[in-house]
Amino acid sequence: MPRKWRKITGCAALLLLVLALILGVGCSYSTAGELPEIPSLKEIYSDYFEIGAAVNGTTVTTHKALIDKHFSSLTAENEMKPEGLQRQEGRFLFQVADRIVNHADSQGMKVRGHTLVWHAQTPDWFFRDKDGKRIDQKAVITEADRQLVRERLEQHIETVMKYYTGKVYAWDVVNEAISDDGRYILRQDSPWFKILGEEFIEIAFRKAHEVDPDALLFYNDYNIERAYKRDRTIEMLKKMLDKGVPIHGVGIQGHWSVGDSIPEVEQAIKKYAELGLEIHITELDIGTRDISPAGLARQAEYYRQVFALFKKYSDVITSVTLWGISDRATWRPNDNPLLFDKQMEPKPAFWAIVNTDKSWEENRAFYLGE
Ligand code: XIL
Repeated sequence: MPRKWRKITGCAALLLLVLALILGVGCSYSTAGELPEIPSLKEIYSDYFEIGAAVNGTTVTTHKALIDKHFSSLTAENEMKPEGLQRQEGRFLFQVADRIVNHADSQGMKVRGHTLVWHAQTPDWFFRDKDGKRIDQKAVITEADRQLVRERLEQHIETVMKYYTGKVYAWDVVNEAISDDGRYILRQDSPWFKILGEEFIEIAFRKAHEVDPDALLFYNDYNIERAYKRDRTIEMLKKMLDKGVPIHGVGIQGHWSVGDSIPEVEQAIKKYAELGLEIHITELDIGTRDISPAGLARQAEYYRQVFALFKKYSDVITSVTLWGISDRATWRPNDNPLLFDKQMEPKPAFWAIVNTDKSWEENRAFYLGE
């Protein structure tokens, strides 16, 4: 090729390269037919707290792509509850829970254990005596009855926590023990309370700490960020902590609806932090019945404010778990409470928490280049 031509082709190639670079940068969100990349929540929140999701034996497969991209922690939605692990006395079944734990392991995610002691989703046999009588319904509960139930409680904790030592880093040891009725501190209808009295909480935490001294131990409940329940929860926790009961954190479930008071949540965070406890938001989902564009925008704005608050307190809030991934699989099917819709596409609420300093529309436009 003559020198002149070589020079011209060289210049043309350079020009093309520069053009390609300019175009390439301009279109970095959609090159060669690829879909625009949506940002990863766990990357966005890595400097603040773990970002988790509750999964079950089904969603761990059906929602795998979203789970792996966005979450750094998993909770079993039902599979680690007493009825999930020990439906019959002494017959522990770990298979389904293991699928969740193994998946978390394979992706380098943490696992929160949920839950060891609860009045619900706990098989009946825990509370029956040797003759099959419900102990919590007896007029007189004997010391032998109490001993039997205490042994079952401790045995359950021992077997489950031993099995998951090193795999589950934090446990909701006791779930939902505080009463909704302002006259009482503890829920009166719990068979654990009826049989063992308030001591059941202490027994559970002490046993848990003995079995796995490295696990973080949480008290978990709903509405304990609300004024009507907060101070009684603090009273219970303070009493336990003063006795040296090993409670390391408080789990605020966070089953909320758009419009619930956010300042009330902030007050509660401050008060729990004053007890020296770590805070996990353990079951966040924020419902709205209105799925018009305006309704979803309101939900997005509410999610934005809530995550801005969590970030403000990220020195004490070390984990935020959503109770599910998409509105296709949620325990509140009429409330559309999650970040992804029934088609598993990101909702305005997802875009809102991607950057809480901007509106969800700005975030969406920024990432999708629209
Ligand atoms: C819910 C599950 O999401 C449902 O699938 C199940 O039918 C009932 O329990 N507080 C808790 C969670 O601590 O364990 C509950 O999970 C929701 C309320």
